[in-house]
Amino acid sequence: MVIAIDGPAGSGKSSTAKLVAEKLDFGHLDTGAMYRAITLKCLRENVSHQDTDALGHCVQDTTLSFSGSPPHMRLFMDDEDISEAIRSDEVTKQVSDYCKPMVVRDALVEQQRTIGKNSDVVCEGRDIGTVVFPEAALKIFMVATTEERARRRQKDFERLGVKKTIAELVEDIKARDEKDSSRENSPLCKAADAIELDTTGMTLEEQVDFIVNKARGINPSLHKTN
Ligand code: DC
Repeated sequence: MVIAIDGPAGSGKSSTAKLVAEKLDFGHLDTGAMYRAITLKCLRENVSHQDTDALGHCVQDTTLSFSGSPPHMRLFMDDEDISEAIRSDEVTKQVSDYCKPMVVRDALVEQQRTIGKNSDVVCEGRDIGTVVFPEAALKIFMVATTEERARRRQKDFERLGVKKTIAELVEDIKARDEKDSSRENSPLCKAADAIELDTTGMTLEEQVDFIVNKARGINPSLHKTN
């Protein structure tokens, strides 16, 4: 069974998806992490997001693999653990440009389908319910106000030792929303059959329970020890 969780940056997807996966004993596929990995590699190798040929080679020459189990999955790129490196400010700022070209999207969507095929997985991103797994059994589209999302991002950065003001983060989020929603290829949008979940003011536990209960409504025999 595939549970698709889409939504804009900071809507609560990642923390929720990890815990839903843990509770249901599912795998967790963070597709944003894959786009971030390619961005990191291109930045390191000075590959421009406008150079389609070089981008294509870069994606083909890169091996991405997840290891561990939710909520402690790690992402490896060519055998290097890049789980922290992909969260840097630089990667976060540039990823909207590197995730746009179809050479990148086609290759990563294919890998995502291979990982999710015939398995129980919580898959999170921007185009999961619309493009990657349009047949997903459960689709959730998470939203939250820009201010709430900025507060969450501020906490994420604090954990990395980076100080950012809310005003600065609101601007970053608006810029990224605009790019993610207006791009031609697989823009962020809610699938017609997705359930919208506004997480503003909700606790993480409430978000997780909402999705777990929906999943158990579809398949009552799903993992029940937690
Ligand atoms: O969820 P995130 O912030 O880690 O995602 C990083 C970027 O990747 C974000 O700007 C949008 C892009 N992305 C995408 O285009 N498609 C996905 N399925 C997941 C993420």
